[in-house]
Amino acid sequence: MLVRTADLVTDARAAGTGLAAFNVITLEHAEAIAAGAERAGRPAILQISENAVKFHGGRLSAVAAATTAVARAADAPLALHLDHVESVDLLRQAHAEGFGSVMFDASRLTHGDNVKATAEAVRWGHERGIWVEAELGRIGGKDGEPPLDAHAPGVRTDPAEAAAYVADTGVDALAVAVGSTHAMTERTATLDHALIARLRDAVPVPLVLHGSSGVPDTELRAAVAAGMVKINVGTALNTAYTAAVRAFLTEDPKSVDPRRYLRPAREAMTETVTAFLRLLSR
Ligand code: G3H
Ligand code: ZN
Repeated sequence: MLVRTADLVTDARAAGTGLAAFNVITLEHAEAIAAGAERAGRPAILQISENAVKFHGGRLSAVAAATTAVARAADAPLALHLDHVESVDLLRQAHAEGFGSVMFDASRLTHGDNVKATAEAVRWGHERGIWVEAELGRIGGKDGEPPLDAHAPGVRTDPAEAAAYVADTGVDALAVAVGSTHAMTERTATLDHALIARLRDAVPVPLVLHGSSGVPDTELRAAVAAGMVKINVGTALNTAYTAAVRAFLTEDPKSVDPRRYLRPAREAMTETVTAFLRLLSR
């Protein structure tokens, strides 16, 4: 069933559990996330990033409609979220396309411009009942850029700056840089759990961990225990999908029917989703 991100986040925060948000690229991703949520008996967020919209020719409607239909038909509570939106034009489509939440990503701007643009996005969103997440600090690793040195000054999120940023922008949730980076294909990241706890104490809104594909199970559980609420996972699904397709086609190189290799690919993503959801519910 289709529910709202704000409600899932509120419930997860109150329960002290992590709420996983998985990135949708193709219909099979959406189906796998729904099936994994049903298998684990847990809610989840289906999120579509600006990069995924670019992959679909810059058109949000078809991928949003398909993802919404999958969520509505599922037996698990699923919310729809627009992720890493840098384009104000795309942001403005969120409401009409049925999104209850967005992540407005002004992290590439200077601090002053980030605050200004994010406050404006929040004002626009709140007038329409849209929950808005933003990022402070640099999580890095997007769009093929090399991972940032998480120990370099100015990369990790400072708790006092985070508190001021939340007050100045009015955001509903804050993505913070605490040691993870996007697009990791190995789960080797180590997080700064003391910093997560300081951020949790300093800011009044729930914290979001991006780049969670590269974070090992023990680190993820400790991050949730320290105060992380929304846990974003993208690359891990693609790693599972591609490995399954590669294995199938290596075994059967003459196969041409995509259903033959997309079925195991979708099942591999479902297993990945189920494992993350079970891990974060404990
Ligand atoms: O916003 C999406 C996430 O941060 C996904 O990151 O692909 O490294 O898991 P990931
Ligand atoms: Zn992200």
